[in-house]
Amino acid sequence: MVAASHLVAACMIPAPFAATSTCSNATIPTDRRIKATCQQLKTLLGGVITLPSESQYDTLRDENWSHTAWKNPRCIAVPTDAADVQRVVDVLVDNHVPFAIRSGGHSANPQIEYDPATKLVTIGTGVRWGDVYTVLDPLNLTVVGGRVMDVGVGGLMLGGGLSYLSDLYGLACDNAVSYEVVLADGRVVQATATSHRDLFWALKGGINNFGILPAVLQAYNAYQALPNKDLDANMHLNIASTNGSKHAPAAFAPFYAIEPVQQVLGVMSLHELMSLFSTGSIPRWSWYATSFRPTSAIFAAISTIMTTAPEVAILQALTGGTLVGTVQPITANVAIAGRKRWAGGNALGLEPVNQTWFALTVGYWSAADDAVAEAAIASLHARVEEVVRSAGQAVCYIFMNDANAAQPVIASYGAENVLRLRAVQRVYDPRLVFRRLVPGGQKLG
Ligand SMILES: Cc1cc2nc3c(=O)[nH]c(=O)nc-3n(C[C@H](O)[C@H](O)[C@H](O)COP(=O)(O)OP(=O)(O)OC[C@H]3O[C@@H](n4cnc5c(N)ncnc54)[C@H](O)[C@@H]3O)c2cc1C
Ligand SMILES: *[C@@H]1O[C@H](CO)[C@@H](O)[C@H](O)[C@H]1NC(C)=O
Ligand SMILES: *[C@@H]1O[C@H](CO)[C@@H](O)[C@H](O)[C@H]1NC(C)=O
Ligand SMILES: *[C@@H]1O[C@H](CO)[C@@H](O)[C@H](O)[C@H]1NC(C)=O
Ligand SMILES: *[C@@H]1O[C@H](CO)[C@@H](O)[C@H](O)[C@H]1NC(C)=O
Ligand SMILES: *[C@@H]1O[C@H](CO)[C@@H](O)[C@H](O)[C@H]1NC(C)=O
Repeated sequence: MVAASHLVAACMIPAPFAATSTCSNATIPTDRRIKATCQQLKTLLGGVITLPSESQYDTLRDENWSHTAWKNPRCIAVPTDAADVQRVVDVLVDNHVPFAIRSGGHSANPQIEYDPATKLVTIGTGVRWGDVYTVLDPLNLTVVGGRVMDVGVGGLMLGGGLSYLSDLYGLACDNAVSYEVVLADGRVVQATATSHRDLFWALKGGINNFGILPAVLQAYNAYQALPNKDLDANMHLNIASTNGSKHAPAAFAPFYAIEPVQQVLGVMSLHELMSLFSTGSIPRWSWYATSFRPTSAIFAAISTIMTTAPEVAILQALTGGTLVGTVQPITANVAIAGRKRWAGGNALGLEPVNQTWFALTVGYWSAADDAVAEAAIASLHARVEEVVRSAGQAVCYIFMNDANAAQPVIASYGAENVLRLRAVQRVYDPRLVFRRLVPGGQKLG
């Protein structure tokens, strides 16, 4: 098994960290101590560690996706296996140095291996979904994974993971049959339905609160037709629609009268379909997610907001200002199919009801516009929430992978799931290392 997580060590510049963290002053390391820890790691691990003075530092630091998430780490670790991850975690925890965990890198190691005997593919979390599909294409196989090739395996899986195949097979996390995890105390464990079962459940939505994933084992799914309701027809597009997986499925009938912005017809592989949609080149992004039971009145109200709300004009006036509303129809079957993959389910508390995961996304160019953009998108989001709430159609669950850092995603899983997650946290991270030293990501309070 190979690993590929990028550990961005000591990401936080001390002052902002002090301002935003839950740590007491006593645990905030001085810049000098962070640098010394990076030197210690460099001596221990050599090329695995990159210091700011090294030539590849900028490239590693500035990798995807939104510049709003870029930091200035004192060093960056690119572990090649779980043992590297263990060593890095040990040193950081010993020295109380804060760190961030990142996937979506591109190590040269073979991190995607398919085993025909078990029908499982082993994926290093540092790879991106495009790499996974490229390896599986010649085998005529695919997995329940991301819809945009650049996205990393780690974050998407830990946040749930919405796929074009989710109506058939549940979320990406429902299809993981084993996780390799480096715990806060440096142990490496395999979490499966039979071993560390509580951790296995918690990782299906628990993001980076429990450990670091060097590798994920995932069940493969062939893209197959099912009778009855047309679960093969999936539409998760930005306002426009597509005829992706089948020739004119009846499920898309309401859209055929609409003049599409972009239109590509034909039967194609999922990989080909996904390659049609590029992520664009706008550098700064922010987004918010809202879940609701869809009604035509809600969509009408959202259309009005998206065209007439004053925040829209504010966002459009920004350099590169781009506002996207993404409508993601989630059938009741996403929850039901997920349960079929493993009866234990996941931590998300998904209700088996037809629902829409609506995402508001803003893109723009300049860091000088951060505050204006963030305030405007937050205010637009509040308008959408108000529409949904007053219509009595709110769904509690918030989709982490489209959620703003300010949204209470883990609380949205429901009180019972939060209690269970805390119980798992007490067992696997009793000293709350991942809460105290990893300030990024949705935190389990
Ligand atoms: C263009 C685009 C398209 C997208 N399409 C989809 C989609 O189709 N379906 C979907 O579900 N989501 C989608 N997303 C959302 C995406 O899944 C989330 O943004 C996700 O957090 C990205 O994961 P990453 O590994 O690439 O990012 P990262 O920034 O590397 O990680 C995100 C979070 O996961 C944690 N994390 C990452 N790796 C590990 C690890 N190995 N161990 C522990 N914690 C880890 C990080 O600490 C961080 O909190 C899309 C996003 C973009 C920008
Ligand atoms: C940290 O110390 C500063 C100055 O000494 C103080 O103002 C601040 O309240 C302290 N913060 C915490 C979290 O203790
Ligand atoms: C993400 O990073 C990869 C590799 O550095 C690059 O090829 C790709 O264009 C980047 N994508 C975006 C959206 O910036
Ligand atoms: C994949 O499918 C194509 C077209 O049906 C076929 O020609 C090819 O032999 C298949 N490859 C494998 C490895 O099954
Ligand atoms: C979908 O395909 C059908 C049949 O080719 C076509 O009539 C329709 O316009 C297409 N709709 C969209 C939105 O592309
Ligand atoms: C979900 O919507 C479909 C129609 O698309 C309907 O047949 C089904 O009964 C609905 N399921 C639930 C649980 O409401």
